[in-house]
Amino acid sequence: MRIKNICCIGAGYVGGPTMAVFASKCPDIKITIVDNNHEKIKLWNSNNLKNLPVYEPGLSKIIKQTRNKNLFFSTEIDNAINESDMIFISVNTPTKTDGKGKGLAADLTFVENCAKNIGEVAKSNKIIVEKSTLPVRTAEKIKEILNSTNKFNVKYEILSNPEFLAEGTAIDDLLYPDRVLIGGDNSDSGKKAIKLLQEIYQRWIPKEKIITTNVWSSELSKLVSNAFLAQRISSINSISALCEKTEANVEEVALAVGMDSRIGSSFLKSSIGFGGSCFKKDILNLVYISRSYGLTEVADYWENVIKINNYQTNRFGNKILQIINSDSEKNEISILGWAFKKDTNDSRESASIYLSEQLLKSGLKVKVYDPKVSKSRIIHDLKTVFQIKKLNNNQIKKYLANISIYKNVYEATYESGIIAISTEWEEFKKLDWSRIYTNMKKPAWIFDGRNLLNNLELKKLGFKTFFIGQA
Ligand code: NAD
Ligand code: UGA
Repeated sequence: MRIKNICCIGAGYVGGPTMAVFASKCPDIKITIVDNNHEKIKLWNSNNLKNLPVYEPGLSKIIKQTRNKNLFFSTEIDNAINESDMIFISVNTPTKTDGKGKGLAADLTFVENCAKNIGEVAKSNKIIVEKSTLPVRTAEKIKEILNSTNKFNVKYEILSNPEFLAEGTAIDDLLYPDRVLIGGDNSDSGKKAIKLLQEIYQRWIPKEKIITTNVWSSELSKLVSNAFLAQRISSINSISALCEKTEANVEEVALAVGMDSRIGSSFLKSSIGFGGSCFKKDILNLVYISRSYGLTEVADYWENVIKINNYQTNRFGNKILQIINSDSEKNEISILGWAFKKDTNDSRESASIYLSEQLLKSGLKVKVYDPKVSKSRIIHDLKTVFQIKKLNNNQIKKYLANISIYKNVYEATYESGIIAISTEWEEFKKLDWSRIYTNMKKPAWIFDGRNLLNNLELKKLGFKTFFIGQA
């Protein structure tokens, strides 16, 4: 047997790019990505590739090559489930906002709905692949749901195949991953299912990079990978605060520490704080799981990674407020960058949201420029954060009246007294900083939350500057 038909449920940042790469490497396999968000599917099918709902370098080229050949985007979920031999579950797994585990545990409603949906309509045997990031032992729950709704005596095999791509580099990460992880059952049918998925990946990934484990190790490894990556950022960010007190320079410290091959240099870039849809939610999930097994010390250890991250964003905001408080002329600040990192239009959990919240609540006017994030998305992000903090409609309206969003960076910085760099977009390095300086209120300040710009050059132009971890 070999796989001829794949269905992927969830056309988001993972489902879209992952299946696009699968389609380009497996022209003989029909791949249908389904989603219950009709607007999103419409955008995936739009003729103008600029309208794709996910921005990723290199993605639109692959979509152009594969779409409507062996890659299809559809809202006909039941049909796609029935046609397929293998189903990837690639739906969102956000932090729960109510009920048991509120604020910590992963909300598995979307995954459970997929399992119910499959169980109710599937008429032939299926391999179900967990692509979403899930708490350890979720496969058990999925199996229970599938079997409780199994009308046609279908046999299911469940694999865990977590995704390690990072946004902004998703296509390269998918084409040349450090490893592919497949977790499965040790039974004959389990081994057979693992082999079928292995055979797909082997078409473009060296065999030795595809590792297989039991399901629980695979599910847990994904959470642990994200926790370790985030931990490194919090570690260097905690040191950045110490650098500012001691005249050490965090960039120099990171270089010196990272050159030890046992430590390595990746993920030691000090910043305004990590964002993105996953680090925070996956660590919270790890904390919740550890607590639920009574492992208090383990849970506390990982929780501190998030505490340091919040501290870092807040600390950056406080530095700006110190300047504002000492200069009554300054009440406007320009934030450059809304995406949680460069090369993506994703702003989930971006530090810019929390920085803006802090500044708006302090009565300031905030001007925003980002090359990829839309105005409606920025307003939505802020509204959501104010609603979560239980602000009433009048307060929300008042704060939102103080935010303006620009398509042009020179307009966004015109007559501001302070600029905060929040995302490390390459284009910020190439701006005409002399022109920006001329049009700003003096003294003109730059707070570089990414240590992106050239501090010396800016100072030569007349700017006053604050760089993370640099006294
Ligand atoms: P996303 O929100 O971009 O996409 C999820 C999609 O699933 C949405 O379009 C939603 O409409 C759809 N959906 C939800 N329930 C559905 C249902 N019952 N039927 C059909 N469609 C449904 O999320 P994402 O960023 O792609 O993340 C998906 C999963 O992958 C998460 O578990 C995440 O932790 C994990 N992950 C994400 C990344 C990343 O870079 N974003 C990387 C690795 C892993
Ligand atoms: C991260 C992981 O890197 C992926 O392996 C994982 O698959 C993914 O989460 C996920 O599960 O969602 P992503 O969040 O897309 O990927 O992007 P990263 O490059 O990890 O950056 C996360 C955040 O950390 C960004 O805000 C980034 O600016 C920040 N960061 C990153 C730093 O502040 N310093 C660094 O040294 C690296």
